[in-house]
Amino acid sequence: MAKHKIAVIGGDGIGPEVIEAGCEVLAVLAEGDKSLTFDFKRFDWGSDYYRKNGVMMPADGLAQLKPFDAIYFGAVGDPNLPDDLTLWGLRLAICQGFDQFANVRPSKLLPGVVGPLRPDLGSAIDWVIVRENSEGEYAGVGGRAHRGLPIEVGMDVAVFTRAGIERICRYACEIARARPRKKLTIVTKSNAQRHGMVLWDEVCKGVIRDYPDLSVDWMLVDAMTQRMVSKPGTIDTVVATNLHADILTDLAAALSGSLGLGATANIDPSRQNPSMFEPIHGSAFDIMGKGVANPLASFWTAAMLLGHLGEEKAASRLMAAIETVTGRREAVPPDLGGKANTRQMTDAVIAAIRGANA
Ligand code: IPM
Ligand code: MG
Repeated sequence: MAKHKIAVIGGDGIGPEVIEAGCEVLAVLAEGDKSLTFDFKRFDWGSDYYRKNGVMMPADGLAQLKPFDAIYFGAVGDPNLPDDLTLWGLRLAICQGFDQFANVRPSKLLPGVVGPLRPDLGSAIDWVIVRENSEGEYAGVGGRAHRGLPIEVGMDVAVFTRAGIERICRYACEIARARPRKKLTIVTKSNAQRHGMVLWDEVCKGVIRDYPDLSVDWMLVDAMTQRMVSKPGTIDTVVATNLHADILTDLAAALSGSLGLGATANIDPSRQNPSMFEPIHGSAFDIMGKGVANPLASFWTAAMLLGHLGEEKAASRLMAAIETVTGRREAVPPDLGGKANTRQMTDAVIAAIRGANA
């Protein structure tokens, strides 16, 4: 019997609360399937760890994580520490160090959830946005000069490599191919950014030749925001750069009801390193420790983790439980207009899993 070894990093803010809720739900899924077992190991890394140790994670952090099958990650970010320090010290250090170059973000309007779009438009949302996760505008390349002087300069250089574009486009094509509509939208901005984005277009054109079964269209990123709002049903799988997809996925989360529902996977498709699964809502310090954080994104994230581990059946059972709970509207979290707290949402999803098991 395969035991899945999961590294659990709750991190900052509400991260530990929603991730512990997720571990509980995963354990309940395992009750209903004797072939499914988890071995969770907690890592107390993050901003509190930084205050004690001067680093967000130990110097050998990646080596410690390497033997795990997956990483289940909460959030990073602390109002009393610079965001770039906390982010680059932990989350990005893991994404980059493990070459998790594909960031996968599904969006759909779950049953019972009312999004801001007209119902006929909102219910048409069923997207997977694939974000380049290793380079582009967030490569970390650049610098500052003339510090403090009136002529001070700050530069972030957007880095696009043929290899980086090719592998993300290929990954997105595979996802699009595995979905019923076999449809890919390639997002670009090659009218204004005439070097990196033109290379992006050229390389993507080469990759899609290997996928003649896909219907592919191209969008400039600004126009893409309009299409997401006015013609959501025409979109299926999307591939975009690190910055563009960062922005588009927040829009996608809002259009599908709440940022509190957004799940994501940082994948190393080579499987040489563990991939990392996290809710996208962040640390939300304003509600930390109150027990009111919506754990649904963390549960959806756990379903993605299960899918990555080949546990498709368990992933479907978990998604079905989430959809049962949102559909019934008995337990509704505050960000979706209700009053249910983390405990009540967790119990509702556990009850739905057990109900389906029975
Ligand atoms: C996200 C977040 C992060 C990102 C932030 C916290 C840097 O916005 O996961 O989309 O852009 O990677
Ligand atoms: Mg973002």
